[in-house]
Amino acid sequence: MTEPFTSIKSLPEHVGERVTLKGWLYNKRGSKALYFLILRDGTGLVQCVVNQDNVDETSFAVAETATQESALEIVGTVNADERQVGGVEIHAESATLIAQAESYPITPKEHGVEFLMDNRHLWLRSQRQWAIMRVRNRIIMAIHAYFQSEGYIQMDPPVLTGNAVEGTSTLFELEYFDKPAYLTQSGQLHGEAMAMAHGKIYTFGPTFRAEKSKTRRHLTEFWMIEPEMAFYDLDMDMQVAEELLLAIVGDVLRDCRDELEILGRDFAKLDLIQGPFPRISYDEAVELLHSDETQRILDAEHEETTAEEKVLKEERTANRAAYGQAKKGEKRRIDAREIDINKRLDEIEEDLRNIPAWKESAANFEWGADFGGSDETVLTKHFDRPIIVHRFPAVIKAFYMKRDPEDDRLALGMDVLAPEGYGEIVGGGERATDLAFLKQQVQDHGLPEEVFDWYFDLRRYGSVPHSGFGIGLERTVAWICGLHHVRETIPFPRLMGRIHP
Ligand code: 4AD
Ligand code: MG
Repeated sequence: MTEPFTSIKSLPEHVGERVTLKGWLYNKRGSKALYFLILRDGTGLVQCVVNQDNVDETSFAVAETATQESALEIVGTVNADERQVGGVEIHAESATLIAQAESYPITPKEHGVEFLMDNRHLWLRSQRQWAIMRVRNRIIMAIHAYFQSEGYIQMDPPVLTGNAVEGTSTLFELEYFDKPAYLTQSGQLHGEAMAMAHGKIYTFGPTFRAEKSKTRRHLTEFWMIEPEMAFYDLDMDMQVAEELLLAIVGDVLRDCRDELEILGRDFAKLDLIQGPFPRISYDEAVELLHSDETQRILDAEHEETTAEEKVLKEERTANRAAYGQAKKGEKRRIDAREIDINKRLDEIEEDLRNIPAWKESAANFEWGADFGGSDETVLTKHFDRPIIVHRFPAVIKAFYMKRDPEDDRLALGMDVLAPEGYGEIVGGGERATDLAFLKQQVQDHGLPEEVFDWYFDLRRYGSVPHSGFGIGLERTVAWICGLHHVRETIPFPRLMGRIHP
């Protein structure tokens, strides 16, 4: 049996006690007679002080020679120390090497994103990535807690399917014995069948789309949560989406302060997320895109971003000038800051390039078109909380959508757009209930009727109004964490051109 050991996270409860820690060496400084080892164990980081006077020779040699990411066991006393992460520090009595690490490829210096993605299996150990995965986990639990407390049943749709759900252009096809089959794009259609059995259900599973473009919002494999509710109309559907998002934000704000801090997330922006979310029709959204206010917002953003760029460049120049004279600790701070500044400057450069195009796209948007990523970005900049856009032109929406009884050109769909430019994180709506209409839709969308026979049965045997939506987990994580790209929101992202590691 393994020896019992204490988690770093729980150390504040053990002040004054002798503990055994097991983990990996995250960072190290010191020299001669004194080493400060930063140990990480998956639950947190803690500084362990190894003083030559307090440990035996073997232990001191371990502290001297252990390389980054070497696995260690450290025994020592927990001391309260306000200046340290977690408010504690370990005064080591012994250090034992479990495994010496080879020269670790990810060092505190700057790495390009492609390099980090190639080393994703190791990058996951870095503090930022660690924080993102903690938030992702918390969001997953918040979603389950919300639906379970509201009486929904979690049910699993198949991953291998015989039918398309969201159009045929993004299907991953495979050979299922002698027949064609696909990786599911969405569990919705099977979810509808489950809702007719249980009333309110939600799915939680991987979904796949052969997205042939590289954007910061698209993965080829992503996790979607899809509630489906019998006897719910579009308004009730929007209400559920709003409540779910409020529950997620509330839980994360309560339980993930440390993680959000590591990520440098602006708490104030998340504190603003309160109901009710503005609900605007597609028509109103188009008007908003055409408005002078849109042009004004984008001009102001261009100005602010340019100002931020100037300040950051000045800070970088000043830091570099001070570097030569700086003490060791200060040098480390400057290095770390330079990485952050460069990263932000890259984003700024991209934004400054994009803003003129966004202005043009908004001004020239034509009724009947689908919103592009940039149009969504622009729409969200009018509000400080998520907005719900509803009643889209039917031609741009999926075959299963119910038509607006007031205007047959419109479908009763809705999208939730996250603020700060994030855009669509939820898509859904009210479903068509009429068998003849659905059959016609399947035909009009060029879909093979025979694979939908089971779906049509739902309209043959007790067809009722019903609604649902899908929330994309990775886009939600990106928004809550304030990330530029969805690739950091999932342990092993699958993108066009990336299936390794
Ligand atoms: O809007 P979508 O395509 O809707 C559906 O699939 C419906 N069948 C859902 C339903 O009504 N039950 O996708 C829903 C959400 C999007 O809002 C987005 O958050 C996410 O899934 N999503 C993606 N996330 C990452 N990468 C992609 N390629 C995504 N495609 C959709
Ligand atoms: Mg959508």
